[in-house]
Amino acid sequence: MIPLHGDRFLRKITEADLPDVLRLDRETFPDDPYPYFALRQFHDALGDHLLVVDDGTALHGYILATPPLHASSWILSLVVSPALRGNGLGRELMTAMLGRLREEGAGEVLLTVDPANDSAVALYRHLGFTPSGEPHPEYFGPGEPRQRMRLAF
Ligand SMILES: CC(C)(COP(=O)(O)OP(=O)(O)OC[C@H]1O[C@@H](n2cnc3c(N)ncnc32)[C@H](O)[C@@H]1OP(=O)(O)O)[C@@H](O)C(=O)NCCC(=O)NCCS
Repeated sequence: MIPLHGDRFLRKITEADLPDVLRLDRETFPDDPYPYFALRQFHDALGDHLLVVDDGTALHGYILATPPLHASSWILSLVVSPALRGNGLGRELMTAMLGRLREEGAGEVLLTVDPANDSAVALYRHLGFTPSGEPHPEYFGPGEPRQRMRLAF
């Protein structure tokens, strides 16, 4: 369990958290949320790297990463509940996960982001990520461009 600012803490997901994570994801990405079965399999296969923000009463965010494979990790998802955005929680989540991936032997961390997602792009840049290649105009299909970004430790 990792203490965060205020009463919040970061902990490993449990099966009982899945409906709350599903709700957060649907609220954040209404057009394209993870289906329940995908979250369920992330929980089973990557549960040690699927961390949720808890304050003892409710969940307020989550982060999902892959453990290092050949020294390379991916951040697959990052969500802060809408009411808490802009207060440093996203940075705390990323900083905690990056520290952990580094300890586990990652030499680089990769992610993709919608180039129009100003808050996410700003966050990643502030953490030291830089664009890797040109934006892919249809990375997740038509109208879904993504920029790959990379942080080297
Ligand atoms: C992206 C997201 C996780 C950021 O979390 P957050 O808690 O709001 O971010 P923070 O308050 O920690 O801000 C971190 C940095 O991002 C920047 N930032 C945050 N909101 C911003 C905004 N609306 N516009 C521009 N920059 C912004 C700030 O400059 C801040 O840098 P600083 O700490 O040096 O001041 C959050 O907005 C979110 O959940 N968005 C919806 C889901 C999403 O887009 N996830 C990323 C998918 S790739």
